[in-house]
Amino acid sequence: MNPFELKAKQKSLYYPLNALSLKSYDKYATDPYTKTRIILMNGTEFESNWFYHQFARHCKNKDVLKVIAEIRRSEQLQQKRIASLKPVNESILETTLSYEQLAVDLTAILAKREKNSVVKKQLDFALLEDFDHLYRFTDMLEMDEKQNYKKLIGSYTEIMPGRPTISEPRAPMQDLKTPINSNTANPLTKLAVSIITGAEQQTMNYYMNVGSFYHKEHGRRLYSEIAMIEEQHVSGYESLKDPTKSWLECALMNEYVECYLYYSCMQTEKDARIKEVWERHYETEVYHLKVVSDLLQKYEGKHYSEEFSEPDFPELLDFKENKKYVREVLESVRLNTFGLEYIDVNDLPPSHPYFKYQKTYIGANPLKVPSHKIIKDYITKNGTDLRYETAPHPITALRDRKFDNYEIARVKGK
Ligand SMILES: [Fe+2]
Ligand SMILES: [Fe+2]
Ligand SMILES: [Fe+2]
Repeated sequence: MNPFELKAKQKSLYYPLNALSLKSYDKYATDPYTKTRIILMNGTEFESNWFYHQFARHCKNKDVLKVIAEIRRSEQLQQKRIASLKPVNESILETTLSYEQLAVDLTAILAKREKNSVVKKQLDFALLEDFDHLYRFTDMLEMDEKQNYKKLIGSYTEIMPGRPTISEPRAPMQDLKTPINSNTANPLTKLAVSIITGAEQQTMNYYMNVGSFYHKEHGRRLYSEIAMIEEQHVSGYESLKDPTKSWLECALMNEYVECYLYYSCMQTEKDARIKEVWERHYETEVYHLKVVSDLLQKYEGKHYSEEFSEPDFPELLDFKENKKYVREVLESVRLNTFGLEYIDVNDLPPSHPYFKYQKTYIGANPLKVPSHKIIKDYITKNGTDLRYETAPHPITALRDRKFDNYEIARVKGK
């Protein structure tokens, strides 16, 4: 499927106001992966809309500004439609579980098929951190909202500690990677970098905005702590993007990503009503793609094929469970990073910026850190933490369900 060669069926980007709201899904009856697709596309639209705002702030060409204002309005409308699928009775924390489930499974799927070792290592590395967030948020859900997580996110994803959240804060420069060269990169690599940056950025935005609306103080603190890690993830992923591309070339890439994702969603969606939403949005994106490729031709004299030498969609994105893969990656739970280096915490020199940052940020009393406290409180109340494991945890040091390990991957020799 080459989306550039499709005839855009859509002739206008104008919609009536009532197109903004769709009937929301049933949070118990809807497949967890339908929810993750909804969150993914909501984030992709946010990224697209926000990109065009940044573009507008750096563009002097009045004709280009007019065209991107039209597309931007359309992206905003698509985001509203997708956001309206979330039901009124789904709490901030319930939605959060789906956010982290998306982070885990999307990252695992992209990592599994990634050939570029720089990109793959970053995916595997961050995977274990979102995996840990899922565990801590799930325990908080059961404790505060007495809600059965399984009814919401099913059993596609295991719930157990990853790299403990307390071990994740690193000095800002540590997460910066080397960008890909998108002229020579594999099409799947280009897609992976854009998709995961948008998805992680959406998670970061969500926690930035909703964290302080949580109904308990310990949860507000947990959101703040985890939002800071999402900031690290976005910094890492965006540093992989090719910085040499023009605004129009980036816009073309964004539109291509939207086409690819909607096409993947419509091919894999089982819910007929939601599938129709994906199909309709795909049509819109084919139109956006056409408009942007015309702009690129007109103002930079560049044909789309110079950016996409293989324009056919590669392997589609299909949400399937990744339990085995995540367990394999967990073996590297003690890794730390600095740029392209990934080193076991035990092998880091004591002068490493990680330790300096941790000392200031975590301070002298790790027992007070919200992500540790939430599990400690859960254990005090219930005797053990809450997990969903299909086998014992692959890391012995993370097996004890009566004690939350706050030293592994952070303190040498643990
Ligand atoms: Fe869009
Ligand atoms: Fe993340
Ligand atoms: Fe678009």
